[in-house]
Amino acid sequence: MSENAARKLVSNNAVLYLPDGQTIELPVITGSENEKAIDISKLRSQTGHITMDPGYGNTGSCQSKITFLNGEKGILRYRGIPIEQLAGKARFTEVAYLIIYGKLPNQQELDAFRDSLNHHALLHEDMKHFFSSFSGQAHPMAILSAMVASLSGYYGEASEVEGIDDPDMNAARLISKIRTLAAFSYKKSIGQPFIYPKDSLSYCANFLRMMFAVPARDYEPDPVVVEALNLLLILHADHEQNCSTATVRTVASSHASLFASISAGILALWGPLHGGANQKVIEMLERIRADGGDITKYIEMAKDKNSGFRLMGFGHRVYKNFDPRATVIKNACDKVLDKLGIHDPVLDLAKQMEEVAVSDDYFVERKLYPNVDFYSGIIYRAIGIPANMFTVMFALGRLPGWIGQWKELMDDPTHRITRPRQIYQGQTAVDYVPIEKRT
Ligand code: ACO
Repeated sequence: MSENAARKLVSNNAVLYLPDGQTIELPVITGSENEKAIDISKLRSQTGHITMDPGYGNTGSCQSKITFLNGEKGILRYRGIPIEQLAGKARFTEVAYLIIYGKLPNQQELDAFRDSLNHHALLHEDMKHFFSSFSGQAHPMAILSAMVASLSGYYGEASEVEGIDDPDMNAARLISKIRTLAAFSYKKSIGQPFIYPKDSLSYCANFLRMMFAVPARDYEPDPVVVEALNLLLILHADHEQNCSTATVRTVASSHASLFASISAGILALWGPLHGGANQKVIEMLERIRADGGDITKYIEMAKDKNSGFRLMGFGHRVYKNFDPRATVIKNACDKVLDKLGIHDPVLDLAKQMEEVAVSDDYFVERKLYPNVDFYSGIIYRAIGIPANMFTVMFALGRLPGWIGQWKELMDDPTHRITRPRQIYQGQTAVDYVPIEKRT
């Protein structure tokens, strides 16, 4: 290629020189926060090459207007609004609306959204029977995912209910019913009667009442607990293309229903490297406490690749400085426990562990800091949520994000089914051998 031609190619595009002598000019996409991506969508058809990026650490799967995240600077914004502002001032339902519809609701819009949530809070009575079919040992995340998938049996293609194709109605159905499903699965696990939702209560107070009220006694949710839950749900509400959200988008890309896509997202969230870490953090801290509280021993284990042990609640694919959600939660931990008059020795242990880890070369070099899951379980525990329900709480919080991302994908006429490629490294062509001739 001549020098002139090469100069012409550079402009705003990227130029890729391949070892076989081919050159290709690739468009560069610039985001509203000046992030850059090289658009390789024509690479294979024009050169026969694909890119390889296991775990997708360098791959942009979509262009989105929902959440901005800068892991180097510790920035997280929903629809442009910093998480620190939302966490201090907003209600979870407002944030859900913001994420799904792209703007903060005015009073009228918020009232209508809340009415819609109240309208959809009940489950079909037949669904209550499903809960008795699960084994007593079933993890609440397995139950939640199955129950969300089964909603498509009531609001899916075969049903004749109003608005089966109305994404707004299905979004309200899901945001409201997931709370009822989560509380009912807890009630089932402890053998208490289901408590039905009550319209006069806020989203969080309503959930807490369904979780903790019993028919024999009056129940008034503690405002401190309501606020703590509101905060945690907001902090979890969206996080751009994480594992569970990418799963929701992948499933949705085949035009699966909202319920099916989110049921899959719930299962992706359950994994201990993702949302399931919040349960694992408390279990780890309890284990360390029972073992005499020797933090250094566990830090050393986490550094030893042969131990199979990782510091749960530490590290993040994107945050390489600090996780702004963890900072907010850590501050809230002290306040909430203080207001509730609780002293949890596990919080002391967690703080000591953070202090030791963040000044240890292994963690510093790899930029490993506490993530959102490190302190959240301590608050959940203080407000009475059992450890096996922690990830369910995460799912409740993440739901608006999943719905917003599902909607964004469905509203994009250019979206295509998600279908990555691979480089095959297996056996090259061989003949079939009849069984009697096999060695
Ligand atoms: N403890 C010890 N070492 C760790 C940890 C940890 N928690 N996390 C990462 N490392 C090490 C890895 O062993 C690796 O070391 P190496 O370079 O010597 O091989 C290096 O740090 C990079 O780690 P990766 O696994 O390549 O990082 P990745 O971005 O793929 O994974 C993840 C991120 C999954 C969050 C990881 O840090 C982890 O397993 N953390 C613990 C689980 C956890 O807290 N998950 C919740 C994440 S937040 C969320 O999903 C809501």
